[in-house]
Amino acid sequence: MALPANFLEELRTRLPIATVIGKTVKLTRSGRERKGCCPFHGEKTPSFYVYDDHYHCFGCGEHGDIITFVMKSTGAGFMEAVEDLAGQAGLEVPKPTPQAAEAEARRATLAEVLEEACKEYQLWLWGQEGRPALDYLRGRGLTDDTIRRFQLGWSGAGRGALAAALRGRNIKPDQLIEAGLMKPGERGPVDMFFGRVMFPIRDRRGGLISFGGRIMGDGQPKYVNGPETPLFSKRRSLYGLNLAREAVRKGAAMIIVEGYMDVIALSQAGFTGAVAPLGTALTEEHLEEIWKLSPEPVVCFDGDAAGQRAALKTVELALTQLSPDKSLKLLRLPAKDDPDSLIKRGGKQAFEAELAKAQPLSAVLFGMLKAGQDTTTPEGRARLRQRLLGAANTIPDKMLAGEYRTALMDAFFANRQHPARQAFQPGGAGRFKPAPPPVPIPPRSSPDVEAADFERGRLMLAVLLRFPSLIAGLDEAFALIDLPPDEEGLRHALHGWAAKAETQHLDSASLLTHLRHLGLEESAQSLLRSTAKHDALAADSSPAEAVKAWWSWYQVMQVNVKTLAAQRDETWAYWTDHKDDLAAWERLKMYTLKLNEALSNNAAIEDF
Ligand code: UTP
Ligand code: MN
Repeated sequence: MALPANFLEELRTRLPIATVIGKTVKLTRSGRERKGCCPFHGEKTPSFYVYDDHYHCFGCGEHGDIITFVMKSTGAGFMEAVEDLAGQAGLEVPKPTPQAAEAEARRATLAEVLEEACKEYQLWLWGQEGRPALDYLRGRGLTDDTIRRFQLGWSGAGRGALAAALRGRNIKPDQLIEAGLMKPGERGPVDMFFGRVMFPIRDRRGGLISFGGRIMGDGQPKYVNGPETPLFSKRRSLYGLNLAREAVRKGAAMIIVEGYMDVIALSQAGFTGAVAPLGTALTEEHLEEIWKLSPEPVVCFDGDAAGQRAALKTVELALTQLSPDKSLKLLRLPAKDDPDSLIKRGGKQAFEAELAKAQPLSAVLFGMLKAGQDTTTPEGRARLRQRLLGAANTIPDKMLAGEYRTALMDAFFANRQHPARQAFQPGGAGRFKPAPPPVPIPPRSSPDVEAADFERGRLMLAVLLRFPSLIAGLDEAFALIDLPPDEEGLRHALHGWAAKAETQHLDSASLLTHLRHLGLEESAQSLLRSTAKHDALAADSSPAEAVKAWWSWYQVMQVNVKTLAAQRDETWAYWTDHKDDLAAWERLKMYTLKLNEALSNNAAIEDF
């Protein structure tokens, strides 16, 4: 929100910086300036100097004006700091531009809609119909007190129940759509959440911005999060931030975990500084938000493969934003555990014990880069050195990058000369495993395979020219296959025609007219002539036979093998982390079967 520049000037003139800082720091005169013990780092002899318009600490380098001072010392955002100072100065913060004011008003109504829904969901949870949901939450170990503190609710069974309940409070379905609680359906708005336990998501100041909903028991998707709205941006929001912010200010450790239930279970066990992203990896914006509260929070990853991948990504991202007072510790939980399950099994102590094993970013980084590297050869060691220096160089803060280079090189040499007292050992990065090996590049298809695919592609195109109505079911797959360059014009024309024609008018006459207009009729006829000897295209062939042949060609094409291989790999990766997901297991079996079929049907595709 843009403020008039002269307002900030006015604020600074009215509030001498020494007065603002003097409220929390004991300042004594020293010549023209004042000095005191720096509030930003622990010190006994004063090296924190306050000048006419700014402060500077010669101990830790912290410096800024009154607004930065309030932001840094209280964790407030810019506007909060300005409001706080304006209050002290007896000034009114001017209203921003009309557009911004209107946007502000809109936000207020959305927030109100969400608050009403939140109340309703809670009423339902504690009422008759929410009984199974309440039992579910209690069954997961949450006390009634915790359930109330996190304002958990029950979404009801859907079918417009929320809209009906809120109608009496003058809230219309289109407002529910805007708030992300309903979505447009074929027959009017439908509920975004139903049959789910509801988790209200609040911003750092406690404003309600969205909800997450969990299905009870198994079922997919397990969690649904509200869509992006003017209030809710996933890449900026952290679950639990409003409560954690208070707690961290009072001295709680800041812990970043993966899920809703982890935040709640941790909080109930006394780790009140926990937050979680909302089903996304940590983003740049999340890190900035977190660092406003704590210079070295602990990021905790689940013990599964997804946790490992997330850790790698987080380390890479954090490096590009690191500074001396913005770092991370990392913690990887034992296999199969997340904070919630760990606490449920071993209580508060179990998590406490893990927390003590959190490692500084530099150590984790060294472990990750070293793992999987052959350090017995000069080449391997040179490569590792390159990787270490490369990583250090992604740190924008020059001085810190230098320190990382030194630390990583120390660890590098310590690793060779004194294997017994390796700098970041034992265990290097503890449970952090090596970066996954690069995905092997599939072999280039041989000219034979390509020629065979081209031939099949011509037949498939001919089938579509002969039986144009089939395009409705085949167009997606058809768009993927490789065709000889000469036939691309026909494919393009065919797609264009199918996109325009009504489904019921996908007939040969209409297609031929279209092709004639484009001057492609002759190419089409010649393709049909040259393929007519094939069974599927013979004079007495039927669309049913043709479509069967079409898929049998598709099945053995490179594109299909690649697609299947990718689908199989993706499903496999998912299933590895979700071994009790039966549907995923069935999908995995199906893709593997199909892939094997495709491979065995085409001996020309070797060693895929
Ligand atoms: P997890 O699958 O680790 O779930 O997802 P969890 O937090 O342990 O949940 P419980 O213990 O089974 O209840 C971690 C987070 O990823 C997001 C949610 O934010 C969840 O808390 N997620 C997960 C989704 O958004 N959708 C999903 O289907 C699953
Ligand atoms: Mn869990």
